[in-house]
Amino acid sequence: MSIRIAPSILSADFSRLGDQVGEAIAAGADYIHVDVMDGHFVPNLTVGPLVVAALWPICHPANIPIDVHLMIERPERLIPAFVEAGADILTVHVETCPHLNSTVHQIRALGIKAGVSVNPATPLIALEEILPFVDLILLMTVNPGFGGQKYIPGSTERISRLRKTLSERRLQMIEIEVDGGISSENAAEVAAAGATILVAGSAIFNPLRSVADNMAALRASLE
Ligand code: DX5
Ligand code: ZN
Repeated sequence: MSIRIAPSILSADFSRLGDQVGEAIAAGADYIHVDVMDGHFVPNLTVGPLVVAALWPICHPANIPIDVHLMIERPERLIPAFVEAGADILTVHVETCPHLNSTVHQIRALGIKAGVSVNPATPLIALEEILPFVDLILLMTVNPGFGGQKYIPGSTERISRLRKTLSERRLQMIEIEVDGGISSENAAEVAAAGATILVAGSAIFNPLRSVADNMAALRASLE
């Protein structure tokens, strides 16, 4: 499976968000990743459906899915609003969903893809029962809440372990998305371990180089 890149707008310049997303798409972004934080499940607050709706006219004509990562408590309350706003993928955290099966089905019943995410300290066994019902698993490779953190090294072994489980259970079509601290330093390593979608925030949106140069460097590191 080809490796896809999902720039996270968390590190973008929000005073010109539309331009930054346009630059990422022009530079070959495969998805646009939107990090939704509620100040409860994670110690930070970000954006809601309004921002997804604002990105839709930029992403949709270019055929770039909006990949929404819900780091919020009781996500089921807001799922319809995010679908309405134009989300193409909604990912919820296993740690926030006591009725995960029902939440995943709620997302799929609204006609979009469903993902489930796990924090670095959550055992992968927590995913065991839900795997047949999801389109993607998002493995957190930092503790969620902020961009620009360092990749947790043991994460690579978790990616390999999940990839092995998916193969053994004939669920290899499920995407493994990795999120946190991904850069040209470790992109090849996580891809070799079995990740298929790489979220990258600070490696793509930073004041040091252009979005195009950063995208090119990340892509080149995968070759
Ligand atoms: C972390 C977010 C990530 C974050 C990644 O809580 O889920 O998507 O934006 O940022 P970097 O790539 O800078 O670690
Ligand atoms: Zn994310």
